[in-house]
Amino acid sequence: MADRTPHPHDLAAGPRTDGVRVSRELEIPPERAAGLYPLYREVLGSLGSAAAARHLLTEEEFVDELADPRIDKWVATGEADGDFLGMSTLARDLQAVPWASPDFYIERYPEQAARGAIWYLGFTMTLPGAQGAGVFATMLSAMTEAAVAEQVIVAWDMCSANIAGGLNGAITTQLATSAGAISAQLDTQSYFSADFSGGS
Ligand SMILES: CC(C)(COP(=O)(O)OP(=O)(O)OC[C@H]1O[C@@H](n2cnc3c(N)ncnc32)[C@H](O)[C@@H]1OP(=O)(O)O)[C@@H](O)C(=O)NCCC(=O)NCCS
Repeated sequence: MADRTPHPHDLAAGPRTDGVRVSRELEIPPERAAGLYPLYREVLGSLGSAAAARHLLTEEEFVDELADPRIDKWVATGEADGDFLGMSTLARDLQAVPWASPDFYIERYPEQAARGAIWYLGFTMTLPGAQGAGVFATMLSAMTEAAVAEQVIVAWDMCSANIAGGLNGAITTQLATSAGAISAQLDTQSYFSADFSGGS
């Protein structure tokens, strides 16, 4: 058989950690979402002092987001016991992302926008006791598989602290090696302050 350049479909979707199951859920009922909120707040709470933009959703926003069928919930659980390990949200409709400007993406990706194929990664979390074991990498592999199958653009934003910590580099490397998807920075937002307090 003649050699050929691998198409993204030919490549593995990425690393998977044994014992971690990832399911794609359209709607998580409010009672279950409310039960997850304290875990979410514990994990994402540290971003409050690390990032100028508010990352932490209120309980009401969190429950609404988990019930919103326009936003996929990729939920990681232990294969053996079904225990919750982590979760990532991936919106399939930019209208479901209040801080994203749909026009910005429509202008850059008109073909994908016309077929509703621009997704937006919201938050991702792994429980503290399960971090560093490939739970997020496994969720990302599952999302990558869907993104390749549905031929979409996936967009996201990230705070400087997580970029400096290497998270964005880990993500873009995994997307490139597992699916041949090249990431590009689309925009930046800077935060300033002027000091009128007269103090030192
Ligand atoms: C970010 C987070 C989801 C990663 O989850 P995880 O399951 O521990 O990650 P994994 O073990 O699957 O690691 C996957 C890759 O990302 C890297 N990585 C994971 N967490 C990282 C972090 N906080 N900073 C930098 N790199 C990180 C790992 O080194 C690994 O890369 P490698 O394969 O090159 O070694 C988890 O640390 C978390 O919940 N953090 C707090 C919430 C947060 O900041 N979320 C992101 C913004 S919404």
